[in-house]
Amino acid sequence: MKIAIGSDHAGYHLKNRLRDLLRAEGHQVVDLGADSPEASDYPDYAALVGRVVAAGEVERGVLVCGTGAGICMAANKIPGVRAAAVSEPVTARLSRSHNDANIVCIGERIVGPELAIEIVRAFLETPFSNGERHIRRINKITELENHQMG
Ligand code: RB5
Repeated sequence: MKIAIGSDHAGYHLKNRLRDLLRAEGHQVVDLGADSPEASDYPDYAALVGRVVAAGEVERGVLVCGTGAGICMAANKIPGVRAAAVSEPVTARLSRSHNDANIVCIGERIVGPELAIEIVRAFLETPFSNGERHIRRINKITELENHQMG
């Protein structure tokens, strides 16, 4: 799968670890930074990853910051992004099957590396359920987005 990954400084080490693991598993991973653990601003990387996901240039995105919260808030400002901040694999799975999430956000200061790997695997492996009720609800999210834009 083609995946974009990004982080700020607080997610830098976990981002690199996830990138290397996903590449070793055969995924095509585009690393959009940060390129060093120097202090940086999470909205910048949320924007870089969010834009390529929303444009359909990659299938999914993975974002890491300290908590997973700030980078998720920023990513969700980009039309077409449905980013979920996740701390365990059940939510990762349900964010795919119910919400058709296209970006998973993880906090390096919250989630250990092994759990983070399980979260990302669950997120990548789970398809959207295509259930009528879920489509209806996602369409309402898009309507909210369009209203804000209009
Ligand atoms: C950076 O110190 C930290 O605030 C950031 O990585 C993130 O946790 C924000 O939500």
